[in-house]
Amino acid sequence: MRLTVIGTGYVGVVHAACMADIGHEVLGVDVDAERIAALTDGRPPFFEPGLPRMLRRTVEAGRLRFTTSAADAAGFADTHFICVGTPQRPGSGAAELGHVEAAVDGLAPHLRDSGYERVLVVGKSTVPVGTATRLAARLRATAPAADVAWNPEFLREGCAVQDTLRPERIVVGTRSAHAETRLRELYAPLLAGGTPFIGTDPATAELVKLASNAFLATKLSFINAMAEICDAAGADVLTLAEAMGQDSRIGRRFLTPGLGFGGSCLPKDIRALTARAEELGTGASLAFLRQIDEINTRQRGRTVELARELAGGTFSDRRVAVLGAAFKPGSDDVRDSPALAVADAIRRGGAQVRVHDPAATDNARVTHPALQYTLDVAKACEHADLVLHLTEWPQYRELDPVSLATVVRAPVMVDARHTLDPMAWRAAGWSLHAPGRPSTG
Ligand code: UDX
Repeated sequence: MRLTVIGTGYVGVVHAACMADIGHEVLGVDVDAERIAALTDGRPPFFEPGLPRMLRRTVEAGRLRFTTSAADAAGFADTHFICVGTPQRPGSGAAELGHVEAAVDGLAPHLRDSGYERVLVVGKSTVPVGTATRLAARLRATAPAADVAWNPEFLREGCAVQDTLRPERIVVGTRSAHAETRLRELYAPLLAGGTPFIGTDPATAELVKLASNAFLATKLSFINAMAEICDAAGADVLTLAEAMGQDSRIGRRFLTPGLGFGGSCLPKDIRALTARAEELGTGASLAFLRQIDEINTRQRGRTVELARELAGGTFSDRRVAVLGAAFKPGSDDVRDSPALAVADAIRRGGAQVRVHDPAATDNARVTHPALQYTLDVAKACEHADLVLHLTEWPQYRELDPVSLATVVRAPVMVDARHTLDPMAWRAAGWSLHAPGRPSTG
């Protein structure tokens, strides 16, 4: 089948490449000519395991092409996926829908003239409930033969290819039986692998995405709030999470305490859902999400305060090494990165902060130019009064605490992500502190 993907950000590029990989003919569309040129050369604009190879393979096979022209898109296929961003509106928690509206408005006049009898516009962007219905009316004013469906995307950065090829569910919200049939056909190779297909109305489909992310955020803030209680009571939050997670109704995943969540989705989505609930007059039902957000942000402040205490009550004239800049391991994304927020707060407190990250330093330099960066862990830790482990890249688990102890000024470590082996680090002479766990170092 033929389809276009409008918007070549994270979701768009991965969706386009994966759809081409399962055999469809795909045209990726974006207003950014530079990005389109790079993609045409098979170069993705971000780091994602497995994606560069898939992109090159599908481009070389001629199943994936790119353009900046909405007219080309309308002529190429009768099915169009909208994958543009919906960032947080400045000064408010609500989602900014300008890109979605521009994509639909740019396409609509060409759809009318495309020669296809029936066209389908499928939204993948995360939008406030009610958007699909509003967009359908807007689209039909220009292109009466257009159907609209909402098909939220649940991919995680770092596992995006696998999450797209083997999703845990495919959710499609539409009032058109024709649209649902077409999407079942399009996703047939994934459905054949056993993925459940949930057909519903557009509003429910829009909500599934935001509700899922709000639930995940709640789970994380719950365990981080428990870490605060554990600190006060001298209990161990990791054992607590382990024991709670054994209950299959709760589950161990998304229960790892630490610095809290960041990235481009969870923080923005809980705010957008809260804002939409308020607009709908049901703000009280989701008021607790504000607390989820506050608990999450508080973890960053708690880590800064622990660092200050360990640095002797002040950051002035202190050198602090930070391991990790990405919002999570396996990604070069620094959007709302808890690690960088902590690093920057410590720098503003007067310390000299040197940050190491295996993938995200180029992006971090752009958002946080006042921090220092290095690609060498030992260099980051040279003469440090304190080392903070803030993003749990697997390679940090393999660090040799004995040799690292020889380069720092004081062997003091905050393991905010709970992946370092406390016994090994303490045996090597480190004083190791992990929020939510008893400190014996
Ligand atoms: C998330 C959702 O998982 C995905 O379904 C949705 O489509 C987009 O948002 P992503 O932002 O890529 O995906 O990251 P995810 O792996 O979910 O992690 C989110 C944040 O939670 C990260 O900052 C991560 O470090 C943190 N996290 C996750 C924890 O602190 N503890 C955990 O146990 C799990």
